[in-house]
Amino acid sequence: MIPFNRPHRTGREAILVAEAIAGDHWRGDGPFTAQAATALSPAVGGGKVLLTTSCTHSLEMCALLLDIAPGDEVIVPSFTFVSTASAFLLRGARVVFADVEPRTLNLDPADVARKVGPRTKVVVAVHYAGVATDLEAVRAAAPGVTLIEDNAHGLFGTWQGRPLGSFGRASTLSFHDTKNLSCGEGGALVVNDADLFERAEILREKGTNRARFFRGQVDKYTWVDLGSSYLPSDVLAAMLVAQLEGATESQAARHHIWARYHAELAAWATRHGVQQPHLPDGAVHAAHLYWMRVGDLSTRQAMIAHLAAAGVKSTFHYQPLHVSDVGRRLGGQAGDCPVSELAADTLFRLPLFADLADADVDRVIAAVTSFSPSTR
Ligand SMILES: Cc1ncc(COP(=O)(O)O)c(C=O)c1O
Repeated sequence: MIPFNRPHRTGREAILVAEAIAGDHWRGDGPFTAQAATALSPAVGGGKVLLTTSCTHSLEMCALLLDIAPGDEVIVPSFTFVSTASAFLLRGARVVFADVEPRTLNLDPADVARKVGPRTKVVVAVHYAGVATDLEAVRAAAPGVTLIEDNAHGLFGTWQGRPLGSFGRASTLSFHDTKNLSCGEGGALVVNDADLFERAEILREKGTNRARFFRGQVDKYTWVDLGSSYLPSDVLAAMLVAQLEGATESQAARHHIWARYHAELAAWATRHGVQQPHLPDGAVHAAHLYWMRVGDLSTRQAMIAHLAAAGVKSTFHYQPLHVSDVGRRLGGQAGDCPVSELAADTLFRLPLFADLADADVDRVIAAVTSFSPSTR
């Protein structure tokens, strides 16, 4: 079976992890954490990078940083991972689900404009599949509202020549093992508004000013704010440094596979009315995942079963948050975000990982094109 995903090893992970273990700095914020943050910053446009334990925790830090409180409204796409919403719900926000637009499955600015109101404090954009959200349009739809980028998919993608993750007041990254770079579980907060940085450091260090103490800026450290423990062990950061060292090669490999799918499935997709991802002008994607959409749920299920029978693991993706158990408790109803609902039923994703061999890409393409959606 060709797996859906397999983490890529650069070969340096075990070496650098052994180095971290041989050193005495196993806790957070050691030399490897500093190295990883320094290497990541240019890739996300130069913002200050704080390594965290997950993208989920980075989003929770955003909610703390922005002082989200009951009564505040936060607009998130319905078609996203739970954490995009739950991080703000945890602080008591009213989460407002906006629909996505059908060609990219990114926030639909028109729906944001319909749902924005006087209490809207934040809009969270997710660059689905590593393809940029139209950020100018989202900003125009919610003037004066803080933009946060959940950039779990978008590391190394760009929009209008600028790295994804550099547009919001802050943005977040994931290093879960399904992501382009991974240390197993991990993430980062990218702070683009310099005024937020010092507080971000404090929130990440249990609400203490320990970072300032270590820099010699205060003579003792103490409890100064809300916070939690959001910093990863330096041993995990060592693994991330190894991944970053190989990022050029792994990204090239991912782009090669993505481009092959896109080109070699195009004729079949056109013939059968199957949707391929759309790349808006100005978007350079991150080769995070390759999705396609057929007409309905039963065809999608048949496609996944057909691929499995051909030895190819394919999978669906997000279930719309507004009709999840929690979403319904928050008042969500079927029909609120129709594009998200249809995408959830009709989308499938193909295997995409740096070590997928060309011969296996051939097999995936042959398996997809031997299915005839229109005859079902
Ligand atoms: C869009 C999005 N945001 C957040 C997350 C959460 O990432 P993590 O597992 O690092 O907390 C994911 C995970 O897949 C995601 O897809």
